[in-house]
Amino acid sequence: MTKVVLISGSLRAASVNSAALRAVRRIIEQTRPSASAVSLPIGRLPFYNGDVESAGTTPAVAVARALVADADALVISTPCYNGAVPGVLKNALDWLSRPDGASSLTGRVAAVLSASPGGRGGIDAQPALLDLLDSCGAITVEHPPVAIRGAHQRLDEAGEMTDTEAVAALRELVDATFEAVAIMAEQRRSALGTPEPPRAPRTPRPPQAVPSPAAGPWSRASVTLSRS
Ligand SMILES: Cc1cc2nc3c(=O)[nH]c(=O)nc-3n(C[C@H](O)[C@H](O)[C@H](O)COP(=O)(O)O)c2cc1C
Repeated sequence: MTKVVLISGSLRAASVNSAALRAVRRIIEQTRPSASAVSLPIGRLPFYNGDVESAGTTPAVAVARALVADADALVISTPCYNGAVPGVLKNALDWLSRPDGASSLTGRVAAVLSASPGGRGGIDAQPALLDLLDSCGAITVEHPPVAIRGAHQRLDEAGEMTDTEAVAALRELVDATFEAVAIMAEQRRSALGTPEPPRAPRTPRPPQAVPSPAAGPWSRASVTLSRS
């Protein structure tokens, strides 16, 4: 079973990033019955403090580390605060990167998206988040950036992100994430010398155009596979 942990960088009850991740969870449930997707509520984590860590982990930290250590992939949706990642998300990743040498992020496949009511969809937070994940040893999934613009207008009356374009972009992100998980599993098998099970040849996805910012709600780069 493939296990996915969803992390929203917003603590707001009506967060558009959390709504995007609930849509991700629905997509996983609908398309991959043998996979599981659970949310990691990062608001329960204390501010990182080396003294607190030395004294022994708090239950919330232990739960978060165990959840991530047991996951095959993370999907993180972040708002952009003043051009950067919200402090609460940085704090969570700092906790998950500890203890030194035993980070639960190391080797973990991680996909990133952002959402905002604004016209840039929070995309300005994504490069720093990807750098942060890289420096924590996570395997970041390369895919066309998913930055959901005008996100508040893409929620239905129940506050769920059911907008067709948003769901299509999230579905592609989910596909890229599961593809990255499969590639990593294959690489691990190869490294262990275990024979690979027969696999159907993969149909290459066609490259996607990069529309101008005015052309659509998404910022797009070219399609790539997860890094090897
Ligand atoms: C402190 C702060 C700084 C913000 N800075 C930006 C910004 O630089 N760019 C942007 O697009 N939106 C910015 N916003 C607006 C957020 O994108 C917006 O509040 C968004 O809804 C937050 O995501 P959420 O709905 O998941 O909580 C900022 C909001 C706050 C509270």
